[in-house]
This record gives sequence, C-alpha cells and structure tokens, in this order.
Amino acid sequence: MTTEIFLRYIHFISIFTIVGSLVAEHLLLKKTMTRSEISKLAKIDAVYGLAALTLLAVGLMLWWGSYGKPAIYYNQNWVFQLKLGLFALLGISSIYPTVFFIKQRKGNPEEVIVIPAKIAWTLRFELLLLLIIPFLAGLMARGIGYA
Ligand code: HEM
Repeated sequence: MTTEIFLRYIHFISIFTIVGSLVAEHLLLKKTMTRSEISKLAKIDAVYGLAALTLLAVGLMLWWGSYGKPAIYYNQNWVFQLKLGLFALLGISSIYPTVFFIKQRKGNPEEVIVIPAKIAWTLRFELLLLLIIPFLAGLMARGIGYA
C-alpha cells in the first residue's frame, strides 16, 4: 500500500513538474532571444526531460508492478493505451524544441537568435496534450475503456 501511494505521489509530482516547466518555457519564449536566454530555456527543458523519464518509470511500475490493479487491467483498457499513445506523442513533439535549444545556446551569449514560430506552436501542442491525458487517466482508473 505504502509503495503504491509513494509511486502515485511521484507520478503526480512528475506531472506537476512537466506542466510547470512547459508553462515556464512558453512564458519565457520570445520572437528573438539571446543565446544566454536560450540557455536558460535549455536548462528548464532538461528538468522537463528528467520529470518525463521519472513519470514514465513510475508509470511502468504502477502498470506492471501490480500495485493495486493487475497489469491485465491496463493491457485490456483502450483508454490507457490511448493515454500511452498521447504520452509518446508528447515525447516525440518535445524533440524539436529540445534540439533547437541545445543547438542555439552555444556561441556568443549576447548574439540574438530568431525563434521559429514552430517552437511556440509545438509547446502549445504539448500543453494541449497535457490537458487531455489526465482526463484519460481518470477514466481508465475507474475502469472506463476496460474490455
Ligand atoms: C503526461 C503523462 C501522464 C499524466 C498526465 C498521467 C496522469 C495520471 C493521473 C491523473 C492518474 C490518477 C488517475 C486517478 O486515480 O484518477 C494516473 C494514474 C496512473 N498512471 Fe498516469 N499519467 C501520465 C503518464 C503515464 C504513463 C507514461 C504511464 C505508464 C507507462 C502511466 C500509468 C499510470 C497508471 C498505471 C496509473 C494508475 C491508474 C489506476 O489507479 O488504476 N501514466 N496517471
């Protein structure tokens, strides 16, 4: 019981960290930024990445660790699989901004870089996914989608 509560706690803290870092990136993003400003975004993005890996690891433990519900409960739940699919889409979408921030932070810190509009739209798409996934999580936790 305690392990499950602890895993759920880490699951939620990871989600809060992901949402917090993505909102921070979106708020700090400007049409043009210096390399030192981009370097700050890259650091926030690294926190996002670590939180996402932690979320995945704990999610897998909740899924396969049979804390509370057996794994088959999730294996036969299309809502859970849709949740995983959207999480994978979130991960894939996050690659472009991450690579851009890592590449553009190097060089003269005062040099001004034009930020492609696609970066802002990608962050917004990720935030949209983060609006949908918890809804699916609540449904699946109550057996909706279980065949
Ligand atoms: C951004 C990504 C994610 C979000 C926002 C999220 C959200 C949530 C929420 C809100 C719950 C609690 C549901 C409830 O009790 O009402 C939950 C539970 C759970 N999540 Fe996630 N989750 C995410 C990613 C994942 C991933 C990647 C996995 C698996 C690899 C996973 C596996 C689980 C499991 C097994 C539970 C327990 C559900 C139950 O009580 O039956 N989650 N998640």
